[in-house]
Amino acid sequence: MNVSIFGSGNMARGIGYRLVRGGHCVTLFGRDAGRLQKLADELGKAARVGTAAVKTATTGSPVHDEIVVLAMWYSGNLEIAGRLAGELAGKTVIEISNALNETYDGLTLACDTSAAEQVQALLPRSHVVKAFNTTFAQTLAEGQVAGQVLDVFIAGDDASAKAKVIGLVESSGLIPIDAGSLQRSRQLEAMGLLGITLQGPHRLGFMSAWKLVH
Ligand SMILES: NC(=O)c1ccc[n+]([C@@H]2O[C@H](COP(=O)([O-])OP(=O)(O)OC[C@H]3O[C@@H](n4cnc5c(N)ncnc54)[C@H](OP(=O)(O)O)[C@@H]3O)[C@@H](O)[C@H]2O)c1
Repeated sequence: MNVSIFGSGNMARGIGYRLVRGGHCVTLFGRDAGRLQKLADELGKAARVGTAAVKTATTGSPVHDEIVVLAMWYSGNLEIAGRLAGELAGKTVIEISNALNETYDGLTLACDTSAAEQVQALLPRSHVVKAFNTTFAQTLAEGQVAGQVLDVFIAGDDASAKAKVIGLVESSGLIPIDAGSLQRSRQLEAMGLLGITLQGPHRLGFMSAWKLVH
């Protein structure tokens, strides 16, 4: 599949790495052409030969791909959703953020909403799917923790968009877990926060993951 990623930071790298290893084509969008090119070069080297390519574009360029990942901080996701609502109409938009407070020990949103729902409100003609907010960037680069393949919890209201994301995750070597409607993002974002707060006390070094054992 062709996937657009907004952002050139840790998560753009982690998700991009998994996608190109799964044979998908990635286009990176962002503000800093140098950072985008550096990441594009890195992802290009990681791509399975002949199956994936990386292009870079600034946020002024049109978004052609059917699946778009907003891999920025919550504020950046809101800004892009507000600015590109028309352009993102009809597309599946993967929202990955945890709206952390300044001290990273709480969320800035009330518990009766979520970052994904706020982004969906700005993108009424897109299908927002929550995913990747509980997987740490470095674990994505590895695809596993302690020999266990990563679970990616997925929430969304549009069945067809969610199925596309499930397929994308699976083909990228990860385990998709359908967590239900977009409203479940509230709990997924709380899980994301809890995962962060466990790192220091348990000395996990952001190399832990949530796993559904069954
Ligand atoms: N890091 C993790 O392990 C992890 C795990 C789960 C979820 N998340 C979530 O993933 C998101 C990204 O985290 P990260 O660690 O990848 O952050 P990061 O390394 O700081 O990268 C953030 C990226 O967003 C871009 N950006 C921010 N605002 C923007 C805007 N208005 N327009 C265009 N680009 C913008 C930045 O671009 P510039 O370089 O131009 O500033 C940068 O490329 C956050 O919402 C976080 O909650 C992170």
